[in-house]
Amino acid sequence: MKVPQAQPVMTEKMIEAAATALRTERLTLGDSVFKFEEAFAKMCGVDHAIALGSGTAALQLGLQAAGVKSGDKVLTSAMSFVATSNSFVAFGAKPVFCDVDAVDFNLDPAKIRLDKETKAIIPVHLYGHPAKMDEINEIAQKHDAVVVEDACQAHGARYKGRRAGSLGLMGCFSFYPTKNMHVGGDGGMITTNDPKIAEITKKLRHCGRKGQYEHDIIGYTARLNTANAAVGIEQLKLLDQWNDKRREIAKKYDQMLKGVGDLRLPLQPSNDFEPVYHQYSLLTKRRNELKAHLESKGIGVGVHYEIPIHLQPIYREMYGFKDGMLPITERLCKEVLTMPMFVDIKDEQIKYVVENIKGFYG
Ligand SMILES: Cc1ncc(COP(=O)(O)O)c(C=O)c1O
Repeated sequence: MKVPQAQPVMTEKMIEAAATALRTERLTLGDSVFKFEEAFAKMCGVDHAIALGSGTAALQLGLQAAGVKSGDKVLTSAMSFVATSNSFVAFGAKPVFCDVDAVDFNLDPAKIRLDKETKAIIPVHLYGHPAKMDEINEIAQKHDAVVVEDACQAHGARYKGRRAGSLGLMGCFSFYPTKNMHVGGDGGMITTNDPKIAEITKKLRHCGRKGQYEHDIIGYTARLNTANAAVGIEQLKLLDQWNDKRREIAKKYDQMLKGVGDLRLPLQPSNDFEPVYHQYSLLTKRRNELKAHLESKGIGVGVHYEIPIHLQPIYREMYGFKDGMLPITERLCKEVLTMPMFVDIKDEQIKYVVENIKGFYG
């Protein structure tokens, strides 16, 4: 049996929606883009959504729209995809990495230290589990910093009943194909209740245009293509049911893997934290052995992430970051292993994964 780690859904209806958009709409900023934005804002419970070419673009343009500039500091987690901080390093802002909580793998509010130069905090809702937003917002408010959620793995997740993307000044999403929903290629979204952020990011994505031939800020070409938005509209309709499915799959893993070997299973959902299991990640001291064993049985597993951002070669080179700076993040990166997780996974495939994990531990 073969079990992939992830498997994006692409139905005939989604392909047809893209084809119709290609035949009948403007290819960029066509009607589907605005319809997708409206539906996505509604899902998140915010006033505005701005569709972009990627999650990285959403973070970069969002931070710039919030006034973060070259030389400013931005505090975030190194237990994330490198794009979280690339988004602002790209325009000269400086990364301040804060260690995570060993229980939820998200920014640990008790370890956040801000100074006058720190203009923004980016909590990452890792694997679709919301960060402790009340504490983070409170700290940010005291220091006059903005909070930009990296919700790239958290489409539809809820914190205290509110959706990811509505919990800070803005939320940033990615629609990369393996995410809980995608757009049939790269894509991203900013969600916000702030009309100013909406106005500026719309300009930034569209070459800094004031009018058709007039440009009053330095902008980018960072729009979401119309055909991709058309796919996104169809995907979004299924998001809640897909997230329910992911939670069911997680529950099955939880039940079958409880007490096996030295495994530590993901944090359970609670009233305040409703995760969407973008990933189902285990911890084990024998990570590399277990990974090799499962791969030899045709099971796709992942490591999210093998190298924490601060220890990526370019970050070491640019900032002199060293091993030992973030002890919890660094330990998690050595122990974490991501199981197959996708909506169409079959019970036999889940059982096959579990049997092979049990076989590994004898
Ligand atoms: C946590 C996180 N931040 C940022 C990104 C960047 O998104 P994109 O790949 O769409 O640029 C991703 C996904 O790839 C991500 O998982």
